[in-house]
Amino acid sequence: MPELNLVLLGPPGSGKGTQGERLQEDLRLPYYATGDILRAAVRDETELGRTAKEYMDRGDLVPDEVIVGVIAERIDSPEAADGFILDGFPRTEPQAEALAARLTELDRALTGVLLIDVDDEEVVRRLGGRRTCEENGHVFHVDFNPPRSEGVCDLDGSPLVVRDDDEPEVIRHRLEQYHAKTEPLVGYYDGQSLLRLIDGSPTPEAVGAEVERTLATIRLEADEAI
Ligand code: AP5
Repeated sequence: MPELNLVLLGPPGSGKGTQGERLQEDLRLPYYATGDILRAAVRDETELGRTAKEYMDRGDLVPDEVIVGVIAERIDSPEAADGFILDGFPRTEPQAEALAARLTELDRALTGVLLIDVDDEEVVRRLGGRRTCEENGHVFHVDFNPPRSEGVCDLDGSPLVVRDDDEPEVIRHRLEQYHAKTEPLVGYYDGQSLLRLIDGSPTPEAVGAEVERTLATIRLEADEAI
């Protein structure tokens, strides 16, 4: 089977992490979510975490040169030989160019970019009620996906917390950053015939089913191209 190199694109809170969790189980591919990687680095007080923290707390993107190396290293690792799922990277055109250049050097290419899209109002509603597991980043919502026991992760029993960047002011700023810096990638990838649009507004299960259908189409097209 040809390798599956996927990017999950979309505004903050559109459900990339929610669908990414499902996908990594279904596809058994390594899942690299730059937000999770950066939050772990902040928690572990590494040099990367110290650099990233101030940007993340404000809802700004961390500088391209900081994040590009983090991902380049991972896609080059043996575990990613059959493919990978990137969530939250690339987020700017220079990041997309750097990813393409690295993949070309490795004689590889992206298979598809899934744009999970919702409007700004829905983003605010979702992020306002999000609860995140402190230990492993598992995601819940007080109304749309509540944990069985309030404040406790169903999967690993860790405390559920409100992320620092899920405060209303910061959410608004993250949305501005998305529209200014990340949304241009929609046209960028559409121009390369890699973009697949997924409506992120129905239930997580319905969005998951749409993602599955899209992947089936991508695979069929990849098989036909061989
Ligand atoms: P990151 O962690 O990547 O944040 P994000 O892209 O803003 O995405 P989120 O994690 O907020 O949302 P999501 O789309 O994963 O939604 P989720 O599934 O959780 O990045 C954080 C920061 O790191 C950035 O601001 C930046 O500073 C830095 N950073 C990261 N990558 C970078 C890069 N490449 N370059 C520079 N800086 C970078 O769902 C949200 C909520 O909705 C949950 O509560 C969930 O339960 C609920 N939900 C999900 N789906 C549904 C549904 N279908 N219906 C109802 N509710 C739903």
